[in-house]
Amino acid sequence: MMRGFVLGIVALSVFSTEACKTNGKVQSSMKTTVFGKLPDGREVHQYTLSNGAGMTAQIINYGATITSLTVPDRNGKVADVVLGYDTIDGYVNGTAYLGAIVGRYGNRIGKGQFQLDGKQYQLAVNDGENHLHGGKTGFNKVLWEAILPDSSSQSSVQLRYVSRDGEEGYPGTVTLKVTYTLTDKNELRVDYEGTADRPTILNPTQHSYFNLSGAFGNTILDHLLMIDADSITPVDKGLIPTGQVASVEKTPMDFRTPMAIGAHIDDQDEQLAFGRGYDHNWVLKGAPGQVRKVAELYDAASGRMMSVLTDQPGLQFYSGNFLDGTVIGKNGIAYQHRTALCLETQAFPDTPNKPQFPSVTLRPGQTYRQTTIYQFSTR
Ligand code: BGC
Repeated sequence: MMRGFVLGIVALSVFSTEACKTNGKVQSSMKTTVFGKLPDGREVHQYTLSNGAGMTAQIINYGATITSLTVPDRNGKVADVVLGYDTIDGYVNGTAYLGAIVGRYGNRIGKGQFQLDGKQYQLAVNDGENHLHGGKTGFNKVLWEAILPDSSSQSSVQLRYVSRDGEEGYPGTVTLKVTYTLTDKNELRVDYEGTADRPTILNPTQHSYFNLSGAFGNTILDHLLMIDADSITPVDKGLIPTGQVASVEKTPMDFRTPMAIGAHIDDQDEQLAFGRGYDHNWVLKGAPGQVRKVAELYDAASGRMMSVLTDQPGLQFYSGNFLDGTVIGKNGIAYQHRTALCLETQAFPDTPNKPQFPSVTLRPGQTYRQTTIYQFSTR
């Protein structure tokens, strides 16, 4: 699926492709536009993927960020279902990781410290005493290189970032490629491929905030969520896993059958208190390395349904607890408490300090891979 990509070094007008009609059917397309300029003058481009089946995805090469995702409801009415900003300044100044690829390490590493092959490393600390989402200037705050499809009918774009040795304290140079593809089955597919020139750790994820109603005045508390997991990795008050694996049975964490997110979010529960709601890693059923359905999110009012498929061992479900109305998003809307949620497919938080968790070590000669698919349908 990586075949057929060419470096996007030609003039903008050349690599814009319009949706074209074949036998009366609208085909998929990819269009490039200028999104804005960074404070240092570099241009940020936006790639609009259309699948010809009612969905569009917009992605910018700053942070490899999804800026919009429009999805039909049960009556065919299309709405944008992800949080974002209208302008590049929002993404440059924002602190909520809206829509971005986060890394090198998605989620937290305790005190930003770990050992690898007997050597001690100190990462940037940016969340109390801990390291979160790659540090002060993570993958969400850098300009990626775009590699465009060579065929006008491919609704995909590949973004590439080379993270230098020592960046945010991480050892080794890492090259990460993230390919977004909008399929004609209303799926947004995200394929990751990473390599390193020295032993290091790599655990990137996608940090889109979803609200399937498309109306960001609503919370996500009435969305129904299913997570195919029998257990979570409980955390301490700094949201660092204790190292244990705890059953979801008879707890507010039991999403094995669809449950309204608001049903138990305010229960008296130590884990919910630490997270100020849901902000935990679920230990997904099924074999890591194999793409399987791990979660389903449903909004009854619009009929929109999103299934999440991944080959990752864990899913961080974050219920937007830190949104507090101070982030002003697209169309001037203030994003209030729990107006959207993240479903972040990844390895478990703090794995470098928890040898019992599935490894995140990447060595020269190995290739990190992740495939995650957000599949949309209606009911
Ligand atoms: C984390 C939250 C954090 C949020 C930042 C989530 O992935 O789990 O704890 O506050 O990202 O926006």
